[in-house]
Amino acid sequence: MQVVRTVTETRQLVGAWRQGGERISLVPTMGALHDGHMSLVRQASDLAERRAVSIFVNPTQFAPNEDFTTYPRTEERDLAMLEKAGVDLVFMPDVTQMYKDDHRTKVEVQGLSQILEGQFRPQFFIGVATVVAKLLIQTMPDVAIFGEKDYQQLCVIRAMARDLDLPVEIVGGATVRESDGLAMSSRNTYLSNTERAVAPRLHEEITGVAARVKDGDAIEDACADATQQLESAGFKSVDYVAVRDAETLDMPGPGRPMRVLAAAWLGKTRLIDNIAV
Ligand code: PAJ
Repeated sequence: MQVVRTVTETRQLVGAWRQGGERISLVPTMGALHDGHMSLVRQASDLAERRAVSIFVNPTQFAPNEDFTTYPRTEERDLAMLEKAGVDLVFMPDVTQMYKDDHRTKVEVQGLSQILEGQFRPQFFIGVATVVAKLLIQTMPDVAIFGEKDYQQLCVIRAMARDLDLPVEIVGGATVRESDGLAMSSRNTYLSNTERAVAPRLHEEITGVAARVKDGDAIEDACADATQQLESAGFKSVDYVAVRDAETLDMPGPGRPMRVLAAAWLGKTRLIDNIAV
C-alpha cells in the first residue's frame, strides 16, 4: 500500500495503472475509519482493479462553531485497517496541499445544497462539493463510492459530477449500522453512555415514518409524531424529519420513490440518518 501526500505523486501512480489498462476506484473519507467506510472499500474491489482511499479532514465543510479541531484523527489505526483490506493507495494531503493561500474557487450545486442539511449548515455542501471535485480531478478514478448514510451528500455529488461532466461513475453504498440500528459514524464516539443508549431511537423513528407513509398515512403527521417521540426520548432538538423524493429531494409526488431523512441533536452531538420508504 502506498501512502502519498502530494497530488503529483498520486497522479503518477494512478497514471501508470491506467496506462496498464487497470480501472481505479476512490473512496473519499475524513478518516477515523469504521466499518461503514470499510464496506465502501470492500465494495470497490468488485468495481476496479486498483483501490484508492483519501483521508482528508476538510476544513471548508466545517462552520466556525463546528468540530473541525476536535474531529477524531486516528491516522495509524486507519492506515493499518486499509493495509489489511488490501488498498493500493492512500492519498493523505495536508491542508496546504489542498488549499493554497489564495484558493478562490468554490463548487456549489444550487438548490440541493440549500435544503434539509443545507438549512442548518449553509456552507457545508459547498465545502463538500468543492473538495470532492478536487479529489476526483486529482485522482481521476473511474468510479467513486459514497455512503447512503449521507444521502443528501450523495445526491449533491452525483449532481456535481454530472453537471461538470466529470468522467467518473458515482456509486452509492448501503448504510452500515450497529446491531441496535444506530448508523455507524465517526462522530458516535462523542456520545456519552446515556446518549448512546438513546441514539438508536433515530433509526427506529424514521423506520416508523417509512412504514406509516408506505401504509398511506399523511406525511406531515408521521414526521410530526416522530419529532415528538425523539424529543421525549431525550433528543435535545430535532432539526428535521422529512420525507422527500428519493432522487431529487423535492417534495414527493405520486408514484415516486421516497426517502425519509432526519437530523437531531443528542446533547452536543448532531446525528443524521435516512431510510428508503
Ligand atoms: P466521512 O464522514 O469520513 O465519510 C466518508 C464516506 O463514508 C462517505 O461517503 C460516507 O457517506 C460514508 N459513510 C459514513 N458512515 C457510513 C455508514 N455507516 N455506512 C456506509 N457509509 C458510510 O462524508 C465525508 O467523510 C466527507 O464529507 C467527504 C465526502 C470525504 C468530503 O470531505
